[in-house]
Amino acid sequence: MSALTAMRLSRVKPSPTLVVTAKAAELKAAGKDVIGLGAGEPDFDTPDHIKEAAIQAIRDGKTKYTPVAGTPELKKAICDKFKRENGLEYAINQVIAGVGAKQVIFNALLATVNSGDEVIIPAPYWVSYPDMVLFAEGTPVIVPASEKDGFKLAPATLEKAITPKTKWLILNSPSNPTGAAYTKAELRALADVLLKHPHVWIMADDIYEHLSYDGFEFSTIAQIEPKLYERTLTVNGVSKAYSMTGWRIGYAGGPKGLISAISDIQSHSTSNACSISQAASVAALNGPQDFLKEWRDSFAKRRNLAVEALNKIDGITCLTPEGAFYVFPNIKGLLGRTTPKGKKIETCNAFCDYLLEEALVAAVAGSAFGMGGYFRISYATSEKIMIDAMQRITKACADLK
Ligand SMILES: Cc1ncc(COP(=O)(O)O)c(C=O)c1O
Repeated sequence: MSALTAMRLSRVKPSPTLVVTAKAAELKAAGKDVIGLGAGEPDFDTPDHIKEAAIQAIRDGKTKYTPVAGTPELKKAICDKFKRENGLEYAINQVIAGVGAKQVIFNALLATVNSGDEVIIPAPYWVSYPDMVLFAEGTPVIVPASEKDGFKLAPATLEKAITPKTKWLILNSPSNPTGAAYTKAELRALADVLLKHPHVWIMADDIYEHLSYDGFEFSTIAQIEPKLYERTLTVNGVSKAYSMTGWRIGYAGGPKGLISAISDIQSHSTSNACSISQAASVAALNGPQDFLKEWRDSFAKRRNLAVEALNKIDGITCLTPEGAFYVFPNIKGLLGRTTPKGKKIETCNAFCDYLLEEALVAAVAGSAFGMGGYFRISYATSEKIMIDAMQRITKACADLK
């Protein structure tokens, strides 16, 4: 009998962050007091005015199919957002809403990548980028964005990675998993390289736009260099900014032809994103934004707490990231040490296994994001839990000999 699964499935692996979450859930179900620092979602509740808009939408009977790319109200709210916050002018047929930024990115790659096309992905990267490229039969070209450069892609590295086969560069700022965010000057320097290579498209994944700290000023590449506007897909969503991960609405702005190609793919998979979630997202984008400052302040406090505690641990160093809700500590100083049970910690995977089993803290190894010797902590959890987690990690590291 022939195999059930298609060849294309053998190219991809399940999301490693979800594997850690599942492992932690298993231990929890067995009665263990596990602290999960693996999650990629804010712990705040969705604001009430957004929930109310959804309830009203149900009452008003907005329960039917909508146009594939989104309701006119949502598309207008997306255009207004891009103009207001990013200085980007998109016409109504230049934006699309999908089932999360994840679907928009997936469809964009599926719609544009041919077999053998290269997609440049700076590492550490969001776990889904390489697998999505592989799914689309493209070749992920992983280039290091190393710690010495603040985990940001250096212009010379980009220049070297570009070939005639390069189709896309994916730029994620602020970044998952490092929290690194590109300044205007850093984007300018990358734009200068990209201007020399007109065949390269740019996917700006700005999903963490609203989460940056210490007065960091967010910008996106199509805004920095208007000449790149015609070949940039600017991706964003309501998941992280408005704590709406479960509502599944992401969106993008870009050239009309590209948006229409993304829409064609979507029309044969999910059709429109959920009509109720679209109504809720209109309220999120058009409504008050003042709670964001409170959330940011709270995230900044937890980030500082984590960075400070981690840097006190012998064998760990940790940069202070500009944004998102992750830190990406360097644990190379711990490798080679031995656990109380006599196991040698040779890799960041072994370190994370040790943390989970002995300290009951779930975090994700750097190798999952394309850079070993590090691990990712999500601080999208309460200050009290963060303090407890840091105490556990500190003790577990002190126990390594
Ligand atoms: C960098 C990055 N991009 C995109 C997404 C997808 O977000 P969503 O599909 O919830 O809009 C995530 C979620 O974890 C992310 O971390």
